[in-house]
Amino acid sequence: MVMAMAMAPSSSRVISQLLCLLFTLISHTTAQPSFLYHFCMNDKGNYTENSAYHTNLNTLLSTLSSNTQIDYGFYNFSQGQGSDKVNAIGMCRGDVKPESCRSCLNDSRVLLMHRCPNQKEAIGWYDNCMLRYSNRSIFDTMEPDPTYLLWVGINATDMNQFIQVLRNLLESLRTNASSGDSLKKYAAGSAAGPSFQTIFALLQCTPDLSEQECDDCLVRAISNINDRCYGLTKCRIGKPSCNLRFDTSPFYDSTADASPSSPSKESPPPPVTNTNATSTKGKSNSTGIVIAVVVPIFVVLVLLISVCIFIRARKRKRSFHNHNDTEVDNEIEPIDSLQFNFDTIRTATNNFSEENKLGRGGFGPVYKGRLSNGQEVAVKRLSINSLQGDLEFKNEVMLVAKLQHRNLVRILGCCLERRERLLIYEYVPNKSLDFFIFDQIKRAQLDWKRRYKIIGGIARGLLYLHEDSRLRIIHRDLKASNILLDTEMNPKISDFGLARLFAVDQTQGKTSRIVGTYGYMAPEYAFRGQFSTKSDVYSFGVLVLEIIIGQKNSSVRRGENAEDIVSFAWRSWREGTASNIVDPTITDGSRNEIMRCIHIGLLCVQENVADRPTMASVIIMLNSHSVTLPLPSQPGLLIHNNRSLSDIHSEEYNSETRGSTESGNQSVKASENEASITEPFPR
Ligand SMILES: *[C@@H]1O[C@H](CO)[C@@H](O)[C@H](O)[C@H]1NC(C)=O
Ligand SMILES: *[C@@H]1O[C@H](CO)[C@@H](O)[C@H](O)[C@H]1NC(C)=O
Ligand SMILES: *[C@@H]1O[C@H](CO)[C@@H](O)[C@H](O)[C@H]1NC(C)=O
Ligand SMILES: *[C@@H]1O[C@H](CO)[C@@H](O)[C@H](O)[C@H]1NC(C)=O
Ligand SMILES: *[C@@H]1O[C@H](CO)[C@@H](O)[C@H](O)[C@H]1NC(C)=O
Ligand SMILES: *[C@@H]1O[C@H](CO)[C@@H](O)[C@H](O)[C@H]1NC(C)=O
Ligand SMILES: *[C@@H]1O[C@H](CO)[C@@H](O)[C@H](O)[C@H]1NC(C)=O
Repeated sequence: MVMAMAMAPSSSRVISQLLCLLFTLISHTTAQPSFLYHFCMNDKGNYTENSAYHTNLNTLLSTLSSNTQIDYGFYNFSQGQGSDKVNAIGMCRGDVKPESCRSCLNDSRVLLMHRCPNQKEAIGWYDNCMLRYSNRSIFDTMEPDPTYLLWVGINATDMNQFIQVLRNLLESLRTNASSGDSLKKYAAGSAAGPSFQTIFALLQCTPDLSEQECDDCLVRAISNINDRCYGLTKCRIGKPSCNLRFDTSPFYDSTADASPSSPSKESPPPPVTNTNATSTKGKSNSTGIVIAVVVPIFVVLVLLISVCIFIRARKRKRSFHNHNDTEVDNEIEPIDSLQFNFDTIRTATNNFSEENKLGRGGFGPVYKGRLSNGQEVAVKRLSINSLQGDLEFKNEVMLVAKLQHRNLVRILGCCLERRERLLIYEYVPNKSLDFFIFDQIKRAQLDWKRRYKIIGGIARGLLYLHEDSRLRIIHRDLKASNILLDTEMNPKISDFGLARLFAVDQTQGKTSRIVGTYGYMAPEYAFRGQFSTKSDVYSFGVLVLEIIIGQKNSSVRRGENAEDIVSFAWRSWREGTASNIVDPTITDGSRNEIMRCIHIGLLCVQENVADRPTMASVIIMLNSHSVTLPLPSQPGLLIHNNRSLSDIHSEEYNSETRGSTESGNQSVKASENEASITEPFPR
């Protein structure tokens, strides 16, 4: 069943990648590739610039990538003493040659420290290597989390048989990998799958684990396949202690010594310096390398440059002309994800016609579309430049697409072509909540029972984003127009995760780019750029008040005067007249329950962040009428100074757009009170 893989396509691909990688390193002209994924562990402590920890980290990581003693692809070192001690682990894929391993780690160290500028603990993955560091001891410990998954949304043709073959292959590889020695725990192999396909798979643990620990980690990774990769042809899963990958096209170098029990002590010359690939097998020694490297260095350089230019030019050409190519030629990242073809979407939306336009959100217009198979979708055409590169953008979309909950709008995929960035969502038929609650006539369709159900649904969706999903997502732009309603009037939160696509500093809890909507924004976020799950709780509180009162947050009318909803609700509450503010079209429901919801709403908009409940507490408060609620105090309010805020904002906003006047001006005009904004915040 288990076969040796065909090596020709893979090694030529590996060689061409290495050529370009080396060229890149030599020339320093190309930007560094991004990680497949990385985590900055915000909750594990920070260090300050030029502190002892910072110095130790720098020293440690430069030793790690310049160390030439160890060449079995695993590097574990520590530096410093006591509380400033830094521990780091670097591991390369089992088939990667020492030189490329070191340069991969070298790239990782620069990028990881750049991405996570003050976190004591961080982890990042490239195609060929993984780097992590922490102030904790991370050696000899199995750590199954955090986990990332990357996948391609192509189903295997004969799914059941494919899964069966894959399982058998993985089981066999698991035993081989975990029984590896303390230098390498790696196994890669292939098996003949259905429809003449070959399944290639790879499993690897950090070799500091015991056999049992490695096995545990791999078992978990294999079970993660069910999360998102079930029946798909390409997937990879990474954990701090182990990783897994499978694919129907070859991706590893089978000529490398994959046997875990005999780690290659010799350093075969890198493919760049010797085009006779077969001669690198066996016991070539270091003299061979030196000669190979030194003598033809000029020739190689010239060759290299031309080959690289050729490969790049060819790739570029291909990527412009061949959109249907599912077998996307991969430079560093072979995952083309849940990607849709631009022409497919254009056809589905009738060339983004006005009739198909559902509305316009802060990030761009939304169109209704119908795919050729009849499925209805909503397409968001992003009009703002993401700060991220294509690969990171895709990865982010894939991660966000992984979140599934009945109170979240599902992301089906994305499309990145011709400078377009589209997000494809499930189509939710009943429009958004604002369409009902702010409409004189339609709001009568929402009786208290429905509204209460909507409040509960939003709370559960938000709790999932905050706590229950693997990614901790802060929505940052929760508002009535981002709550869609399905045919049964169940709420579905949309636009979650978008903040991640547009804000570089998401991991840091403080941002220079404010994404949100005035009126729903917590004061600490609007003024100081500080966001947390509690800033979402604030927006949730405003939303609850809107749902009960049936008016927009910015202009609650009472006789002649208009005031903001938070002040209005608070004043009425304090004066004991809160029952008068309930939307008069609500005739059902218990007054107690409604008052309790106003009370919860007010607790959510407290000025002091710590006084606001978490979403988990909100759900307890909503579900149990016997829980005593704390008394709210004066809520936090955005002092209205929209004039100056929006002036700054419109300037910056325009520089952020693609220069298409269509998107820029419209949103700026509307931004004062209701449109979403994305703005670099003045500090
Ligand atoms: C790591 O740093 C965090 C935050 O500074 C601290 O709470 C923790 O005790 C440190 N761990 C070790 C092992 O020093
Ligand atoms: C680390 O820094 C971020 C801001 O950069 C802050 O939000 C976070 O609370 C800090 N973590 C700790 C444990 O101090
Ligand atoms: C590591 O990368 C830096 C540039 O980022 C380069 O100057 C240096 O030579 C590299 N070191 C090694 C050992 O590859
Ligand atoms: C893949 O298979 C699943 C389950 O059989 C199905 O729901 C999904 O629509 C399929 N996806 C594609 C792209 O065919
Ligand atoms: C696992 O190791 C055994 C013995 O070394 C070998 O025969 C088998 O082919 C390996 N399995 C895979 C899937 O590589
Ligand atoms: C690094 O790993 C090797 C092999 O697993 C082990 O022998 C060595 O003790 C480790 N070094 C440290 C500093 O833990
Ligand atoms: C490649 O190496 C083999 C074995 O070392 C040798 O017989 C052959 O002539 C070499 N081919 C080239 C093109 O150098």
